[in-house]
Amino acid sequence: MVGGFDGRSVIVTGAGSGIGRAAALAFAAQGARVVVADLNAEGAQQTVEEIEQAGGSAVAVTGDLSEQAVVDQVTTTAVERFGGVDVLVNNAGIMDRMSALADVSDAEWERVIRVNLTAPFLLTRAVLPHMLAAGKGAIVNTASEAGLRGSAAGAAYTASKHGMVGLTKNLAVMYRKQGIRANAIAPGGTATRIVVDVEQGAHGPTALGPHFVNLGRVARPEEQAAAIVFLASDAASNINGVVLPVDDGWSAV
Ligand SMILES: NC(=O)c1ccc[n+]([C@@H]2O[C@H](COP(=O)([O-])OP(=O)(O)OC[C@H]3O[C@@H](n4cnc5c(N)ncnc54)[C@H](O)[C@@H]3O)[C@@H](O)[C@H]2O)c1
Repeated sequence: MVGGFDGRSVIVTGAGSGIGRAAALAFAAQGARVVVADLNAEGAQQTVEEIEQAGGSAVAVTGDLSEQAVVDQVTTTAVERFGGVDVLVNNAGIMDRMSALADVSDAEWERVIRVNLTAPFLLTRAVLPHMLAAGKGAIVNTASEAGLRGSAAGAAYTASKHGMVGLTKNLAVMYRKQGIRANAIAPGGTATRIVVDVEQGAHGPTALGPHFVNLGRVARPEEQAAAIVFLASDAASNINGVVLPVDDGWSAV
């Protein structure tokens, strides 16, 4: 396979399903060698098989990315198998219960923040030394419409995705002199397997009002993947610190 990512080493988290799988396939189709990281072993293996069947190169690493040992394994695999890390896509994430703050349990808060914000922090911290040594690298984070506004999810998910936006912008500024770019996409509703275990109380989705329902067309995962691949590519060489909505205009409402 030959393309804009020929021979480059790309880590995609949450690549066993949805947006992450579509991104892994898209990178591989452009020649990248992909580390498919996911909690779901079956999903990760299926992504690897699809890439290999199409003539590409990929390896799966299975585990919970909120654990340092798994983060280290993902990083080591990219370095040892593919010679470094050219691109890191922090995409794995989980939804909250759409709860208003007073109804958020400790467990919901801690799990959502841990998976959606702490795990990307851990993996980025592990990968950065390799990008710094190479003098180049591109990081793309999957934020959300809920990283742009207060009316797209519950308190925990909204806080985690606003955190992801802050992390992205801070990375962009801190490392721009060292050849590393960091950007994010903010997907609107996208047809994936993400689970919304909805809180049905008065402070759940009903409290979010018309901005929650005026969300436009549901995207295909491939539409999100195309934006991720663009932001990671040399075509985006002067784009750093942006949060790109991919949302059929939801953020314009
Ligand atoms: N689908 C949407 O409407 C939508 C909208 C905005 C943002 N997003 C974001 O897109 C990203 C991808 O989600 P998706 O919609 O493709 O959902 P998905 O459930 O289809 O895929 C997410 C993948 O992440 C993996 N994952 C979850 N927790 C993990 C962990 N701790 N360690 C490793 N892997 C883990 C899951 O196993 C799954 O394969 C998430 O960050 C999500 O918040 C999705």
